[in-house]
Formats: sequence, C-alpha cells, structure tokens
Amino acid sequence: MAESDEGGSPVFRLIYQSHSRIPKTDRPTVLAEIFSQARSRNKGAEITGALLITDHYFAQVLEGPQGNVEELYGRISADPRHERLAVLDSGTVDHRAFGRWSMAQVSSAGHADIPLHTSNGSIHPAAPKDLTPEQSKVFTTMRNAIGADTV
Ligand SMILES: Cc1cc2nc3c(=O)[nH]c(=O)nc-3n(C[C@H](O)[C@H](O)[C@H](O)COP(=O)(O)O)c2cc1C
Repeated sequence: MAESDEGGSPVFRLIYQSHSRIPKTDRPTVLAEIFSQARSRNKGAEITGALLITDHYFAQVLEGPQGNVEELYGRISADPRHERLAVLDSGTVDHRAFGRWSMAQVSSAGHADIPLHTSNGSIHPAAPKDLTPEQSKVFTTMRNAIGADTV
C-alpha cells in the first residue's frame, strides 16, 4: 500500500455523499464501529480514503484497485446506517491522495485525523496548509456537496 501522499501508481477513486440515519445519541458508538470495520477491511483490500462526518451527512473518498473500490461501494450502498447515496466523482487518478490512511476521520469532533473548523456557515480544514493540493481538491468536492451542516 502507498505510504506517502505523492507518487505511487494510478488508482481508482470514488467520492460519494450520503445522508446519515444514525440517531444522535448513538453516534459516537456507531461511528467507532464504522471506523473499526473500515480500517480493518480496507487494509486487506488495498483501499485508502477519508470519511467526512457532519451532523446529518457523510462524504467519503475511496481509493484503490477499481474492482475492490466498486465492491466496497456496493457493500456501503446497502448499509442501513445511511441513505440517499450519490456519487460525486469517480475515475482513475495518478496516485492516492489519502495513501497514509486506511480511512481518515475528517470531522470537527472526536479524534479526527483531519480536524475541521466552522466559520461563516462553511467548514474547512483546521490546518489547510497541512493538506496536499490533491487532498484539498478532493476535500473541496466533499465539502461543497454537504455544505454547512457540521457536527
Ligand atoms: C458512511 C459509511 C462508511 C463506511 N466505510 C467503510 C469502509 O471504508 N470500508 C468498509 O469495509 N466498510 C465501510 N462501511 C461499512 C460497510 O457498509 C459494511 O457494513 C461493512 O464493510 C461490513 O460489511 P458486511 O457486513 O457485508 O461484512 C461504511 C459504512 C458507512 C455507513
């Protein structure tokens, strides 16, 4: 698996958004469960990515061998913990943007790998300078889709 954010070989990348069905009180437990499932299974499937979490929405980027990404997206689509999935972008890219993470947590709460700030109704990384240009691009797609709805 690619360990750096630059270099590596072409991979398939899929970005989608969905609406969460997790009741607020269950959120910490259920999110921990999702990250634990994602991190253990993604390693074996050479999948890396990031999951952006807000109060009501998810946006996720999945990167890896095309067949593995499509198989995973199929499984994720059938997951009752969210609904109204919509693919925002998909296709082959030169290299992984999130090669360092089997699944990075992007949120303004909890133990985020990429912490978010909220201002003027929009969400943005707490330390934008720490993102690569490719990560910023993906992040902009995700953020634009789910907008101001933050945790
Ligand atoms: C928002 C969201 C993101 C998820 N991301 C992943 C992921 O990256 N990798 C993964 O294996 N499962 C992920 N899951 C969980 C899968 O939907 C599924 O429950 C899990 O892979 C176990 O599948 P199985 O019960 O068919 O074995 C995610 C679920 C949700 C709701």
